[in-house]
Amino acid sequence: MLQRLEHLLGIEDLTREQISFILDQAKPFQEFQRHPLKKLATLRGKTVAIAFFENSTRTRISFSTAAARLGADTMNLQAEASSLKKGESLLDTVRTLEAMRPDGLVIRHSSSGAPEFVADRLGVPVINAGDGTHEHPTQALLDALTIRDRKGHLEGWNLTILGDVLHSRVARSNVHLLSKFGVRITLCGPAMWVPRELETLAPNVRRVTRVEEALDGADVIIALRVQTERLHEPALAAEEYILRYQLTPQRLQLARPGALVLHPGPMIRGLEIDGAVADGPQSCVLEQVANGLAIRMALLYHLVGGAAVEPPPAKPPEKAQ
Ligand code: NCD
Repeated sequence: MLQRLEHLLGIEDLTREQISFILDQAKPFQEFQRHPLKKLATLRGKTVAIAFFENSTRTRISFSTAAARLGADTMNLQAEASSLKKGESLLDTVRTLEAMRPDGLVIRHSSSGAPEFVADRLGVPVINAGDGTHEHPTQALLDALTIRDRKGHLEGWNLTILGDVLHSRVARSNVHLLSKFGVRITLCGPAMWVPRELETLAPNVRRVTRVEEALDGADVIIALRVQTERLHEPALAAEEYILRYQLTPQRLQLARPGALVLHPGPMIRGLEIDGAVADGPQSCVLEQVANGLAIRMALLYHLVGGAAVEPPPAKPPEKAQ
């Protein structure tokens, strides 16, 4: 039987069946995005706390929109405006939110493991919206949904991930997810961003430094965002990254015909990806955004809404006299 999810903290510990279940649950919500009236009453009366301790625009908007379309209310906490700036600890901040009785918590934090830390201490379902360099599970799920829709299934494809794999939680979650479906994974980027240890992340992972070799035979390519603050001379100049690794139309020709191009955003055109590739027919970037809503609605429905259909807890046993 499918084990009921309590939280979504990462992909690594999920089974293939749990992942397929979430992807299947997202299907009706994909359809729903095309409705003229985009509001359900499923989570009416529920409140989702959305706590972002790290800047984000798209993921935060995606979660708030997903909650709103399910009819839930949201409590928003953003690092900029919060008392975190005044030195409050993560636990105190989250306990304060908890005292307002939300029914679920979506959290993004710059420290790997923060969502798990919070989940161990709070009594509500927690969804990881990206923690440090650890995981970004909803991104990997929306990527998987996009690949499955375009290619019919996930099993057996060749995936190439380009860029700063070392610091990318998107790369890590994708490797965990897709390797469970027998996808062969090639990691490619400057050696300092693709260290040897990453080959042990999951089965069927190899690292390659030449982009031409990495793209040869690829069915799916994920171009990661290059964090410009990590580009500096003499280690690595932007010009060198562009010259050696940018995903250009010429390089894309080395992949299998019709290979998919994914990017988690925000995308820097002219750095990690050429605009012609970003806007080309193989690009899935806008489908990824739309699928992000469907995945997040499915998760909120399942994790936050689930409690509503469960029987109330049994009466506590009578106290012994
Ligand atoms: C990603 C993230 O924050 O991890 N972006 C996102 O969720 N939209 C990828 C990135 O910022 O590089």
